[in-house]
Amino acid sequence: MGLRGSFPSSSSSWVAIILVLNVVVMCNGGKTSTFVRKVEKTVDMPLDSDVFQIPPGYNAPQQVHITQGDHFGKAVIVSWVTVDEPGSSTVIYWSENSKEKKHAEGKIHTYKFYNYTSGFIHHATIINLKFNTKYQYVVGIGHTPRQFWFITPPEVGPDVPYTFGLIGDLGQSFDSNKTLTHYELNPQKGKTVLFVGDLSYADNYPNHDNVRWDTWGRFVERSVAYQPWIWTAGNHELDFAPEIGETKPFKPYTHRYHVPYKASKSTAPFWYSIKRASAYIIVLSSYSAYGKYTPQYTWLEEELPKVNRAETPWLIVLTHSPWYNSYNYHYMEGETMRVMFEAWFVKYKVDVVFAGHVHAYERSERVSNIAYNVVNGICTPVRDQSAPVYITIGDGGNLEGLATKMTEPQPEYSAYREASFGHATFDIKNRTHAYYSWHRNHDGYAVEADSMWFFNRYWSPVDDSTNSQS
Ligand SMILES: [Fe+2]
Repeated sequence: MGLRGSFPSSSSSWVAIILVLNVVVMCNGGKTSTFVRKVEKTVDMPLDSDVFQIPPGYNAPQQVHITQGDHFGKAVIVSWVTVDEPGSSTVIYWSENSKEKKHAEGKIHTYKFYNYTSGFIHHATIINLKFNTKYQYVVGIGHTPRQFWFITPPEVGPDVPYTFGLIGDLGQSFDSNKTLTHYELNPQKGKTVLFVGDLSYADNYPNHDNVRWDTWGRFVERSVAYQPWIWTAGNHELDFAPEIGETKPFKPYTHRYHVPYKASKSTAPFWYSIKRASAYIIVLSSYSAYGKYTPQYTWLEEELPKVNRAETPWLIVLTHSPWYNSYNYHYMEGETMRVMFEAWFVKYKVDVVFAGHVHAYERSERVSNIAYNVVNGICTPVRDQSAPVYITIGDGGNLEGLATKMTEPQPEYSAYREASFGHATFDIKNRTHAYYSWHRNHDGYAVEADSMWFFNRYWSPVDDSTNSQS
């Protein structure tokens, strides 16, 4: 209910209104959804599931996936795996307008992990693409060619509409399949997925069975071969297993998923940035050092001042471990990174931070907690219109199951929380407005279980909190 009608003139009426507003503020711990999902165990899809099917034909390329290949959207990295022999690393591609066929040459990587040897992993970067153009591409030249397509983003600019999908902690369970299907059939039609970490969960299997990296690659191909997924590293990408002699963190992940980190002057593939349409996306790593003087810290310190909001109004950060999380799972795991970087996010007016890790959904109000200096005792989050909204979207459906236990009462900073699997979309309309919605797997494809109009923090920093919109 809003405050409408004529304003009262007497001071007693004002006191009454102020009292009412105070009660609203004090009682507002946000909403804990009453939606009750059927309690059932999350189970991985068996190896002979149709979604894991190996494409027929000798040395047929499999696990085809694409991501942005440069800083501003005119390049695409195409990756795939062949298993019988290395085969060709060439991508043949053409725009639907010109039909002139072009070639890009890739490179082949392999790796061993304990008793597993990978297939031949190809990565080829296509450069100098035209914006806003549909391209067909073919891999598997010489043996079993397979054809796919993608659409390049519009040229970077402040009022370019664009729709991102948000998926995290996907895994390869029956619930994961539902999440991906709901994303694909969502009428809002996401054009690029911002993936907030934890891909295959192969590390949950004996000896981190890397066969489950392959099955995951085949499972998600139906989406990621046709639209880029922007990768964030989660803890399940670490694959750190000294007990079986595997001591190099991120080995399978870095061999299989390439990102354009050098284009943003990053020195490692775990933190980097891209521009896409009207968004500037910064990817951070919860599992790489971020203390002062570390490469990630130094990079981010130099990166944030570079963001030109007149060119890319929407500043979005992806990281795996959430900073504001009121579930009892992974509680405060993001705290040390928050302590290091939160003041910068407020200073540079980040619009939204997406994280995963907690297997549930939560959206915060705009809050910050940056006043504490060890001795002053000021250590409570406060409403802050320069602060981002923090969204935990680790509800992709992996086999570890849902996080259902929450901190009670719901903290004031938490606007909405619910223990259901799902995905979200972030639909940028122009430089001032973006429409965000979260979709749970138990509903129909078009149903929005939670939503929010975002007002851009640089161009229109009005109060867009849940209170002000209700
Ligand atoms: Fe995680």
